[in-house]
Order: sequence, then structure tokens, then C-alpha cells
Amino acid sequence: MPDTFDIVIIGGGPGGYVAAIRAAQLGMKTACVESRAALGGTCLNIGCIPSKALLQSSEKYEEALHSLPAHGVKLAGVELDLAALMARKEKVVSDLTKGVEFLFRKNKVAWIKGKGRITAAGKIAVALNGNGGTLELEAKSIVIATGSDIVPLPGVEIDEKQIVSSTGALSLPRVPEHLVVIGGGYIGLEMGSVWRRLGAKVTVVEFLDRITPGMDAETSKMLQRVLAKSGFTFKLGTKVVGAKKSKAGVTLQLEPAAGGERTELGADVVLVAIGRRPYTDGLGLEELGVAKDNKGRVVVDAHYATNIPGIYAIGDVIAGPMLAHKAEDEGTVLVETLAGMRPHLDYDAIPAVIYTWPEVASVGKTEEELKSAGIAYKTGKFPFTANSRARTNATTDGYVKILADAATDRVLGVHIIGPDAGTMIAEAALAMEYGASAEDIARTTHAHPTLNEAVKEAALAVAGHPIHI
Ligand code: FAD
Ligand code: NAI
Repeated sequence: MPDTFDIVIIGGGPGGYVAAIRAAQLGMKTACVESRAALGGTCLNIGCIPSKALLQSSEKYEEALHSLPAHGVKLAGVELDLAALMARKEKVVSDLTKGVEFLFRKNKVAWIKGKGRITAAGKIAVALNGNGGTLELEAKSIVIATGSDIVPLPGVEIDEKQIVSSTGALSLPRVPEHLVVIGGGYIGLEMGSVWRRLGAKVTVVEFLDRITPGMDAETSKMLQRVLAKSGFTFKLGTKVVGAKKSKAGVTLQLEPAAGGERTELGADVVLVAIGRRPYTDGLGLEELGVAKDNKGRVVVDAHYATNIPGIYAIGDVIAGPMLAHKAEDEGTVLVETLAGMRPHLDYDAIPAVIYTWPEVASVGKTEEELKSAGIAYKTGKFPFTANSRARTNATTDGYVKILADAATDRVLGVHIIGPDAGTMIAEAALAMEYGASAEDIARTTHAHPTLNEAVKEAALAVAGHPIHI
């Protein structure tokens, strides 16, 4: 007899585990199939969490080396203990993944430990971990939440030693002398920051003529400038056409993206970070006829339903930004819809954050998107050099930029580069969710002295009368 559930979710990442907990809260008999040894998916195990732990530790190290003397704090003999730094990261990961396991027990979600395959609508076969045989499950609803995987680069084969993916870059056994990062996106810049702060020379090779494509172009340029000032080297408009490994390291062959003379670049470690692809391997989708698009993403309607009744998909495996909070909210919206509720997710108000120094955070439209859509907008910008809290903290790089509809003053996009931008953007996301105007933000009292006063000032600047500049 197969085990029967109201809902079976395949994948225990931010999309899957949040959907499972919410479904159980709503009274559904819920199972989550996850083959990894720990819950939490890419994000908790090899993504968001370990990378942020390393970013935090490496920032402390850099502060101890370079910034604290300016605050009158003198240190001598500052040393890096890479093993302790890595052990702390592992503990953060393990505590948080165990936390998800605890939440599953608390909410009575069954964790089926194995690899799931959908054999028919309503039916899943799980190859249990450790040769435990196969378990047959039945469910009214099946959710594909299997996430994403690394995009490989032909000719630059990942061995997770000399040529690593983000996973290898989270656990290098020693600080490389020269780390070459292929791809100037989220992972390249965050992991490049970690290893640069710990002492590596870092070169980013990017195919396009700018880093962080998709980000507001002015903000992206400023990020590049600040990162370059901190020691990053950028080779833009450049493609990697091959890699030769030796005991001493890796030699990459580079070419201008537009074609031209070939050059070589030596590295002791190469990080390949050119994007992620939806992961549906071994799920049985082809046999079932579940529709995918030309990028391999599962096609869903506005309610996350695939073309096969009773099968749904959320998170990195469907279209949209590959972000943990987007996956989580899709999971919640899906199961609440299945429970008969009428939830809503505003895709224009999903923030994105790059946790470099300075951080970059954005929500809504970029200037380029507004221009190409022919929408008339007003801009309000306020630099952190004029924010008193940024001054007290000695973190004055960056600005807040608000884009508002020229006719209605409605906030259409907010772009922040600066200290704690990732936390600050929440205010902007909430404002956009409520359909706020720039004036609404400007008339909201902001505590003094806080970094968020820069958001208020940028809103005042939309109307042309900021106070502190
Ligand atoms: P995943 O987290 O990928 O989870 C899918 C799970 O499904 C996996 O655990 C996998 O083992 C399991 N699975 C797959 N197939 C099967 C199967 N057949 N049977 C059983 N289990 C299966 N996003 C942010 O928002 N903020 C960040 O700071 C951030 N940092 C990142 C840093 C790095 C280095 C990386 C790689 C990613 C980062 N991301 C970040 C992206 C984030 O990790 C993803 O957007 C998020 O994990 C997607 O969630 P998901 O639930 O869709 O999929
Ligand atoms: P990315 O899409 O952010 O960046 C990839 C970069 O590589 C782009 O700039 C692209 O132009 C470049 N590129 C592509 N092919 C190339 C080639 N052949 N040679 C040189 N450059 C090339 O992808 P990344 O950094 O791998 O991250 C994957 C995803 O994971 C992100 O898009 C994001 O969704 C998620 N993520 C989110 C984080 C966060 O929220 N802070 C942190 C890390 C990852």
C-alpha cells in the first residue's frame, strides 16, 4: 500500500520546506521528499547561508586589518585562522538546517529521505537514501521544488579543487594567491569579495561589457568602481575559451568577446560562476509530458500549475529571479491557493540584494527598463556622504535612488548601494507593495540618526527639495 498524503513536495529548499510547513499549518497531510542529508536546499547548505557566514567573517578580518585603527582601536598581530572561520560557517549551516528539521517535526511534516520521481499524476516513487529500496507515495497535489544547479562552462571543467563552482569556493582549504572568477554576477562578486578580503588577488572575467547585468546600470558602474578600489581587477567583454591545468595552477585562454587576439591568464584557483540552470534531472517530467520552456524551466500558470493536473512547480525551477525569498513566497502562495485562499505575490516588489561591500539592493524597475517601456519617471538620489549615521559609521560609499512615476509620483523602483542596503531595501519593498508615492515615503518620520533617513531624503529629492544636500 502506498503512503497517502494530501500534498507531496519534491525538494526541501526554501521553496519546498516553506510550502511544506505552510501546507501542514493549513491542515494538509504533508510530505517533503529531499535526497540531501540535510534540509534547506541549496540556500542553507551551499548557498545563501554559508556564503553570508564567510562574508561576515571576512569582513571582520578586513576591519581588524584596515578599518579599526581609524576608530581608535589598535590591534597587533591580527591573524587569519581559516580552519576556525570555516568551522564557524559549518556550524551556522548545521544549526539552521537542523532548525528546519525541528520545524518539520513541530508541524508534523514527514521528511522522506530519498530521490523522488513522479511516475504518474498523483504518484511518486522515492528511491530511499542508502539503498533503502523504493517507497511509493500518493498525493492529491505534487509540487516540484527541485531548484537549480550550476551551469557548466565547456572547456573549463569543474573539479572542485583547482577549478571550482560556488560549492568548492565555499570551502577552499587555503587562501589562493590568485583567484580568477569567471562571471561578474552575484556569486562571482560575493565569493570574490570573501577571498579578496582574506588575502587573494581576485580577477573577474566577464563576457559582457558590464558586471551584474540586469541591475540598474548607474548602480552597477558604481559597484564596479568601489570593488576595483578595494582591489578587484575586472576584465570585461572577455570570454574564456579554454583552461589548462598543471600542478602549479590553471592557465586560462581568453579572447575578447567580440573576437580577436588570444591571451593567457594564470590562476591557482578558478571559480566558474556563470549562472544556474533549473534542475529536473531524473524527475520523470519528460515521460509525463510536463511542459518546459527553452531554458529547461517548468512552465506554470499564474497559480503555479503545470500542464498536468495536480502537478505544480515553484522556486528556481520555474521562471523568475533565482532567489530564496521568491521561492519561499511562491511556496506559501501555492499551498494557500490549494487550501482555497486567495493570496497574491507582487513580482514587481521582490527585492534583490548582492552582499558585497558596499551592498547593493534593488526593488522594482531600473532606469533602463523604464526608458525602454517609455514610462516617464522622476529620479531622487541621495548620497550616504550626506547621511549622518553613515558618517558616524565611516561607511559613506553609495546612495539611495528612487524612481517615481512622473505623473502619479508612485514609486516604480528603488536602488540602494551602500552600507546595509540589503536591510534598508525592505522599507522600499513594503512601500511598493502598498502602492506608495515618493511623497508617502518623504512624509513618513524616519528615526534619526539612521541610514534609512537616506531613503526619506531620496524621496524628498524626487520632489526636488531634499533637506540635507
Ligand atoms: P533549492 O534550494 O535548490 O532546493 C531544491 C532541493 O531539491 C535541493 O535540496 C535538492 O537536493 C532537492 N532535490 C532536487 N531533485 C530532487 C529529487 N528528485 N528528489 C528529492 N530531492 C530533490 N538567494 C538569495 O535569495 N539570497 C542569497 O544570499 C543567495 N545566495 C546564494 C549563494 C550561492 C552560492 C548560491 C548557489 C545561491 C544563492 N542564492 C541566494 C539562491 C538560492 O539559493 C536559491 O534561489 C534557492 O535555494 C532556491 O530555492 P528552491 O527551493 O527553489 O531550490
Ligand atoms: P549570475 O547570473 O548572477 O551572473 C553570471 C554572470 O556570468 C553574468 O554577469 C553573465 O554575463 C556572466 N557570464 C555568463 N557566461 C559567461 C561566460 N561564458 N564567460 C564570462 N562570463 C559569463 O549567476 P551566478 O553569479 O552564477 O549566480 C546564479 C544565481 O544564484 C544568481 O543569478 C542569483 O539568482 C543566485 N544568487 C543570489 C545571491 C543573492 O541573492 N545575494 C547570491 C548568489 C547567487
